[in-house]
Amino acid sequence: MDNHSSSTPHLFQPLTLRSVTLRNRIGVSPMCQYSAEDGVANDWHDVHYGSRAVGGAGLVIVEATAVAPEGRITPGCLGLWGEQHIAPLARVAQLVKSHGAVAGIQIGHAGRKASAALPWHGGAHLSEAQGGWETIAPSAIPFGDTLTKVPRAMTGADIARVQNEFVATAQRALTAGFELLELHAAHGYLFSEFLSPFANQRTDNYGGSFENRIRLLLDTTRAVRKVWPEHLPLAARISVIDWKEGGWQIEDSIALAKLLKAEGVDLLDCSSGGVVADAKIIVVPGYQVPFAEKIRHGANLATAAVGFITEAKQADDIVRHGQADVVLLARQFLRDPYWPATAARTLGYKLPPPNQYARAW
Ligand SMILES: Cc1cc2nc3c(=O)[nH]c(=O)nc-3n(C[C@H](O)[C@H](O)[C@H](O)COP(=O)(O)O)c2cc1C
Repeated sequence: MDNHSSSTPHLFQPLTLRSVTLRNRIGVSPMCQYSAEDGVANDWHDVHYGSRAVGGAGLVIVEATAVAPEGRITPGCLGLWGEQHIAPLARVAQLVKSHGAVAGIQIGHAGRKASAALPWHGGAHLSEAQGGWETIAPSAIPFGDTLTKVPRAMTGADIARVQNEFVATAQRALTAGFELLELHAAHGYLFSEFLSPFANQRTDNYGGSFENRIRLLLDTTRAVRKVWPEHLPLAARISVIDWKEGGWQIEDSIALAKLLKAEGVDLLDCSSGGVVADAKIIVVPGYQVPFAEKIRHGANLATAAVGFITEAKQADDIVRHGQADVVLLARQFLRDPYWPATAARTLGYKLPPPNQYARAW
């Protein structure tokens, strides 16, 4: 099984984070499937995540999983706010692990972007009559575009509750058998709203200065790290920039990365945007890779690169040039669950096949 040598492409060299070893640098980026009922995973999730582990990924990160019912983006989002969610997700984690990948899960709260319709129903905010719910955020400012609902500004009690919900959810993720936990602090969801001055206009000690805006994420990370075992890696996904002048910038992300590292974060997943509706995002292949590179060197922290990564050589170059430690693919994994095998062929490397597929690999 172990055929690593100096000729092994960088993309297929293992990576150890704490006591967990990824068999290669390829990860399935978290992707909402909008297919849960009351937050509970089902056979769709088994097939979706299981097949990507069979396909050879080193890491499979389960989609944004809500820490509370009102923290779901849509009514179809996964949750882990109760005991009823554990067993179906334990099955997903077991499937992923039994096919050789590390089982990760992203936990989050959608803040002012919660209570939205499924994408294939338009994705706009749901009214109460349509099954929508009250949203909460640092400030009573709507996102805009089709997400027009004005959130309720969180009280101190709300902030304390959400923090506890993250801790309890982390404990359930552990019980379910996940080996890597990712805090979702990107894309304009709750933590990300606290970070950005566009969404956070609080005047208490959770708003205003950089130190205040990062407080909730930092405090929650510290609290989660206490229940997430020493031997298991903790990751966080952030939006490295808002793509709008006057917002969160790369320097903020590097400073935050250093602090998250000090709190026990092992991997920073470097995405961007999602905080404001009128951001001008320049999307080209690998457009977020420079963010992962700058943070990796600026904060001396392992990073994951994500965004418009589709080609084997492109992915291998990112790892070989030290721009990131892990390469996450989202949409390409929807097109091709066996992308690692496809990439291995392109790079002239023999990826060990599942026995059942050996004659065709
Ligand atoms: C269907 C779909 C669902 C997504 N859901 C999530 C999610 O749950 N959490 C998250 O952080 N990003 C989510 N994303 C963003 C992806 O993880 C990824 O960052 C983005 O698609 C860019 O990567 P790509 O160019 O490889 O698709 C989603 C993307 C897609 C296409």
